[in-house]
Amino acid sequence: MGRLTDRVAVITGAASGIGLATTRRFAEEGATVVVVDIDEATGKQVADEVSGLFVRADVTSATDVEALYATVFEKYGRIDIAFNNAGISPPEDDSILTTGLDAWRKVQEVNLTSVYLCCKHVLPYMQRAGKGSIINTASFVAVMGAATSQISYTASKGGVLAMSRELGVQFAREGIRVNALCPGPVNTPLLQELFAKDPERAARRLVHIPMGRFAEPAEIAAAVTFLASDDSSFITASQFLVDGGLTGAYVTPL
Ligand SMILES: NC(=O)c1ccc[n+]([C@@H]2O[C@H](COP(=O)([O-])OP(=O)(O)OC[C@H]3O[C@@H](n4cnc5c(N)ncnc54)[C@H](O)[C@@H]3O)[C@@H](O)[C@H]2O)c1
Repeated sequence: MGRLTDRVAVITGAASGIGLATTRRFAEEGATVVVVDIDEATGKQVADEVSGLFVRADVTSATDVEALYATVFEKYGRIDIAFNNAGISPPEDDSILTTGLDAWRKVQEVNLTSVYLCCKHVLPYMQRAGKGSIINTASFVAVMGAATSQISYTASKGGVLAMSRELGVQFAREGIRVNALCPGPVNTPLLQELFAKDPERAARRLVHIPMGRFAEPAEIAAAVTFLASDDSSFITASQFLVDGGLTGAYVTPL
């Protein structure tokens, strides 16, 4: 506890899932959390719960993103941590053979262009302070292929990973760390709903994970907290896998 005392953290996609769990954990660790989402009702509730600030921003909008960080800086005078986490995986993004250009572009905008915009607009504040930690949510699909394709999602996460690595290298001597968080599959309501309908589909995925289960959002939040805190002071430009051994596995336990 208290690893993020006096830090100001901005979390996108903070109203649900990994973003929500991280908001709660950051607050427990003493951070002031800025909750960013397009879901205003839930976003406000979450911000109230942690005595933080809610800012409605669509992370695909350059104007919204620029205004977001200006608002945070004006209010708190600092931005220590940016967790660029908002993302989507809509059903119309599927095999390359059936995925249309509109679905492709939508996912690229929300998952990849958003990270470009958030990094671009938060970096100047961190440069001014001579320090900062940026964590961009990629995925295990950035480093391994699936026969059950979501082609634009996978490509977008590969982009997040490569961009984070490059930024980590570029800004390392300015005291700013940039890491790509690569979660394995996480136990979210969406995943539960999908797998309740189709147990075969669930079993097909679980067999690849050595631990034999999906991650809980709080386990991902714990890793983000580590990357945000000074405990990870020598870690930058990393592909930070939190995947229950998934990407290291060949044959898994029965
Ligand atoms: N859940 C998993 O299994 C898993 C695995 C690996 C990576 N990820 C990645 O983790 C991140 C979070 O996933 P999650 O499962 O917590 O998702 P989620 O759907 O539970 O939460 C995503 C949040 O982002 C918000 N959001 C969506 N579009 C937005 C926009 N344009 N502007 C601002 N906010 C927006 C949503 O309103 C929602 O609150 C995503 O980038 C996802 O790709 C998830």
